[in-house]
Order: sequence, then C-alpha cells, then structure tokens
Amino acid sequence: MQKPKGTYDIYGNKAEQMLYFRKLAETLMNMYNAKYFETPIFESSELFHRGVGETTDIVSKETYDFKDRGDRNLTLRPEGTAGIVRCFIENKLYAENLPLKAWYYGPMFRYERPQAGRHREFYQFGLEAFGTYDPIMDAEVISILVNLFKLLGLKGIKVNINTLGDKESRENYREALISYFKPYINDLCDDCQNRFEKNPLRILDCKVDGEKDIMKCAPKITDYLNDESKKHFDKVKEYLDAMDINYVVNPNIVRGLDYYTHTVFEVEADIEGFGSQNVLGAGGRYNNLVENIGGPSIPGVGFAIGVERLLLALEMEGIDIRESSTPEIYVIPMGDECKSKSMNLVNTLRLNGFRVEMDYNNRNLKSNFKNADKLNVKYIIIVGEDEINTKILTIKDNYSKEEYKVNVYELIDFLDEKLGDNDEN
Ligand code: HAM
Repeated sequence: MQKPKGTYDIYGNKAEQMLYFRKLAETLMNMYNAKYFETPIFESSELFHRGVGETTDIVSKETYDFKDRGDRNLTLRPEGTAGIVRCFIENKLYAENLPLKAWYYGPMFRYERPQAGRHREFYQFGLEAFGTYDPIMDAEVISILVNLFKLLGLKGIKVNINTLGDKESRENYREALISYFKPYINDLCDDCQNRFEKNPLRILDCKVDGEKDIMKCAPKITDYLNDESKKHFDKVKEYLDAMDINYVVNPNIVRGLDYYTHTVFEVEADIEGFGSQNVLGAGGRYNNLVENIGGPSIPGVGFAIGVERLLLALEMEGIDIRESSTPEIYVIPMGDECKSKSMNLVNTLRLNGFRVEMDYNNRNLKSNFKNADKLNVKYIIIVGEDEINTKILTIKDNYSKEEYKVNVYELIDFLDEKLGDNDEN
C-alpha cells in the first residue's frame, strides 16, 4: 500500500520541525492576543463556492468533493478562511468584543499537480482578524508574517503588496479590463475566455497566459482606485513604514481567491534555487466575505502561511528549528527483579519533567551502553540490587564518563542542577 499522490508522511526530523513550528506559532499568536480556532476539515461544498468563488481555480478545479452517506455535498477544505468565517457567523462571535483575531493551524487539501513545495495535502498556519475597517489591522497582519520570518532568522524574503480597492474601484477596473482584453480574446486560453465575462481579474492570474505580453501591458488597478481606496492603501504603507517593514508595491498581485477587497499581499522566498512555488504566505482584506456567507456586514483581514514551504525555505538557508527531543536520562534495570523499582524511578523522573528512556528488553550492559550512545543521552542510571538496598545510585555522565554516587532522595535536586531547571518541560 502506498500513500495517495501528493501526500506525505510526517516523521523524524520533519515531525520535530513541524512540532516546533506549531509551538512557535502559538507563542507568537499569544503576543498578538489572537485566539486559537479549530474548524472542521470538511464543510458543505456551498461554503467554498460562495466564499472562495466559483470561478477560481481552487473551486473549479482543485477541491476534493464528495457526497456522504446522507447525500450531502461536502468538500475537504482547500483553505482556512471560509471555515473560520462560517464559524464566526454561526456562533455569533460578531456580537462579542471586536476586533477578534482567530488563528488556526491544520491540513488543507487541493488537487494540484504535486511538485517541490506543492502538495495535495498541506499545512497552513493562518490568522483572521474581524471587526475593523482601519488599515492599521492590514499592516499588523502583514507585520505578523514578517516578524515570524525574522524570529526564525529567515533573511531571503520579499513582501509584495497591492490593493484591489473597494467595490466601486473594482467595478471600474473590471470594465477597463474587459475593454482591454476584448480585441485579444481569441489569443487567450479556454479558461481565460470563460473568465473574460465572469471575472476578468482572474485572467491576470492565469498560469497559462501569465507570461504573454498582453498580460504585462494590461491596465493596472492602481489607475482605477477611487479616493477612499487610495487613502486606505496609503495608510497601510504608512503603518508598514512606521514598523520598518520593507515591501514592494506589485500591481500584478491579484490573488487566486475571490474574496479580497483593498489590501492584498504575498511573501516570497527570495532564495536562489527555491523553485516556482515560492510564495510562503499570503492574504489580504475581505470586507464583504462575512456578509456574502450570510452574516452581518463585518470586515476581515488575514493571512495564511504554507508550513511545508516555510520549512523548505529554512532548510535552504541552513536554519534548523528542531527542538531537542532526545532523552536526557537512560535507566538500566539489572534484570527482571529490578524492573519495578526502575519503573518507579523512571515514573518519578518523568513526573519531575525529565525526558527519560529505559531498557525494556533485559539487554546486557554492553548493548545498553551502546543504545544510550545511540540515543545520545547525557546520564545513565543503573538500577541493580545493590542500589535498591543502599538507596545510593550511580549516575554516569555519558559524555564526560564521570560517575557520581547520589542518594535516591537527593536525585531530583542533583539532576535539576546538572541538567538545568527544566522550565520548558
Ligand atoms: P493562498 O494563497 O491560497 O491563500 O494560500 C496561502 C499559502 O498556502 C500559500 O502562500 C502557500 O504558501 C500555501 N499553499 C497553498 N497551496 C499549497 C499547496 N498546494 N501546497 C503547499 N502549500 C500551499 C489562502 O489560502 C487564504 N485563505 C489566505 C488568507 C487568509 N487570506 C485571508 N486570510
């Protein structure tokens, strides 16, 4: 049996990195007063049609849709925003103190052609902030991404920002795009010909036609913004400047999801050889999404990071974020009759926060020492009849090979001192 195409198993180093990153995300989110949310991995298909948009590649080509045994149309979530918005509305969280910042972390599913940094099941860490129209929240959301990359020591990143303006600006822009593309309609791919009427903005995001000259010369949204939209974008830039965040205004960023208004952004890995799937995280403002999904008129802005891509970027910059999970102490019971006392000792040590492994298999001393080396433990404790009778344990430092005699009642203090006060445990 093999795993399905586009999926992968998480174990070993990768598992340790993922765990570490998950913890870091939690610590970071606490700094911003964001609250953790978990929503279902599958939702009604309609949620994504209405939320992400019928004409997007994600909904039209990439979702995993299925019917359950009750004949319901369901979809494995291709992204996190729509589910969080549904949860925000269904639980009437808009009636609580706003703004509300909701963060999430979990697997998403898209039927895409797998390649480095692109999977069919992948992890996103994301945040959605509801309840303010103020551009200061757009800037804060972008700053979270940038700060996270800074905290991780990642240097090769590039922040691209753009604005799609409000409804009126978008409408003007749409008209301009239709007039512009009309003479070239037959030069466009089949998908773009469909998009022409329904959603001409999507044409700019086309993976087939993207490099053609007609795309490069297409009208830019920045020329169709009304005053309100311009002001919003200027303020976002002002707040980013105030936080010393470097960015590039890139009018080609239109995003592959339909819900955006005003600010959109993508953070790229600017690392040589990274490959084409180089957007580590992205997001933007969506002032109409809550209403479109059936809630009150409440604005939102958020981001999502592709965890695998971020880990790949870290690897390419030689940054190892694993936290040590190797055991610190290895306990060797000298035969079956010493196992109960050893178990008692191991249990006590673990309850005191130490990472402990023991010999379960009655190995001889030589192969136990070998095993302790393999595990790279710092201390070895042998529990034999003598030790049980005298209550004096021999602790062997497996690195320096020094030996210590320690009374069993003083063991925790001794280890605390030697291994540091294990706050993190
Ligand atoms: P998105 O750009 O579709 O936005 O995805 C965000 C990030 O998820 C991408 O930048 C990328 O790092 C990662 N990603 C997407 N697809 C894949 C894939 N097939 N394999 C690996 N990584 C992938 C959203 O999903 C929006 N919900 C972001 C957002 C939140 N906007 C507002 N709030």
